[in-house]
Amino acid sequence: MKAAIHTRYGPPEVVQIKDIPQPVPKAHEVLIKVHVATVNRTDCGFRSAQYFVSRFFSGLFRPKRKTLGCEFAGEIVEVGSAVKKYAPGDRVFGFNDALFGGHAEYMVLPETAGLGIIPEGWTYAEAAPLLEGSHYAWSDIKAANVQSGQRVMVYGATGAIGSAAIQILKHLNAEVTAVCGTAHVETIRNMGVEVVDYQTSDFTDTPLRYDFIFDAVGKASFGKCKPLLSEKGIYISTELGKRAENIWYAITTSRSASKRVLFPLPTLSEDDVAFIRSLAVNGEFQPLIDRTYKLDEIVEAYRYVESGQKVGNVLLLIIP
Ligand SMILES: NC(=O)c1ccc[n+]([C@@H]2O[C@H](COP(=O)([O-])OP(=O)(O)OC[C@H]3O[C@@H](n4cnc5c(N)ncnc54)[C@H](OP(=O)(O)O)[C@@H]3O)[C@@H](O)[C@H]2O)c1
Repeated sequence: MKAAIHTRYGPPEVVQIKDIPQPVPKAHEVLIKVHVATVNRTDCGFRSAQYFVSRFFSGLFRPKRKTLGCEFAGEIVEVGSAVKKYAPGDRVFGFNDALFGGHAEYMVLPETAGLGIIPEGWTYAEAAPLLEGSHYAWSDIKAANVQSGQRVMVYGATGAIGSAAIQILKHLNAEVTAVCGTAHVETIRNMGVEVVDYQTSDFTDTPLRYDFIFDAVGKASFGKCKPLLSEKGIYISTELGKRAENIWYAITTSRSASKRVLFPLPTLSEDDVAFIRSLAVNGEFQPLIDRTYKLDEIVEAYRYVESGQKVGNVLLLIIP
């Protein structure tokens, strides 16, 4: 089968398309024929090993998992002898950043490893980006314990994480202010939230105070956002910040009764998959889709994702 392979860490060019043997499912695993995957920031992080810490999970000197692709949609074509939840013919979407494998024609995963049945009427392309951005957003929103009626700012509203966060926060009935660049104001306003254009105005120039500021692209900072936080307000960033300051702020503000920084580790349980799927089924969550590339064009897809300018999600067609 055709697969995108990287045998060393580095820039997009370390990835090559090769023919490798098709995997065989073990007792608790399913074999998925991948139709569409995404190329996302998680794949970029593990491929580049830009943050050395990722090597403790992916291999100290060389990648243990040579085929990335943590997010995908496809059809189950074979199941192991002990599999209970799925059967051949099931159309599934999924996310797994421990095992990866979606940048290939076939992948195997345990049946409990972040899979869900594609909502009725959704295409593989629509379903592929359901979990990467949304599970980061949902992990952070849960950590901030957002309640109905609370005021929340999403800085970096156009990324996979930011655009998912807005939709989840709307489901929770939060009052959302989204911050994005001029080119994307209309796209984000169409999600039904108040929008601030950071290119034509200063997002900190507001009398409003926020219960939660979610820096979904890691381009603001606690220092900048602190004056905008309510007395018990929480700041969370998807990035470590300058000299990993967000980790230190999380430690130093942890005992504070006011204005705290959290740095939660993202998780994805079966309940989380079910929750995100239910939002999709109810029409409350539709991942934004930017460009589409073919498997052979994966290096270009990586380059685009790493430009930091994608709007929502970038798809990789495994079956063109
Ligand atoms: N290391 C990992 O494993 C990992 C995994 C997932 C995510 N992350 C991090 O999480 C962050 C978000 O990722 P993502 O995939 O959701 O989105 P992304 O691809 O990083 O977001 C791109 C969007 O960010 C906006 N943007 C760029 N510069 C900005 C600025 N100065 N202020 C506000 N917005 C700006 C752009 O829209 P506008 O034109 O509207 O500004 C663009 O559409 C990234 O920093 C990423 O590195 C890391």
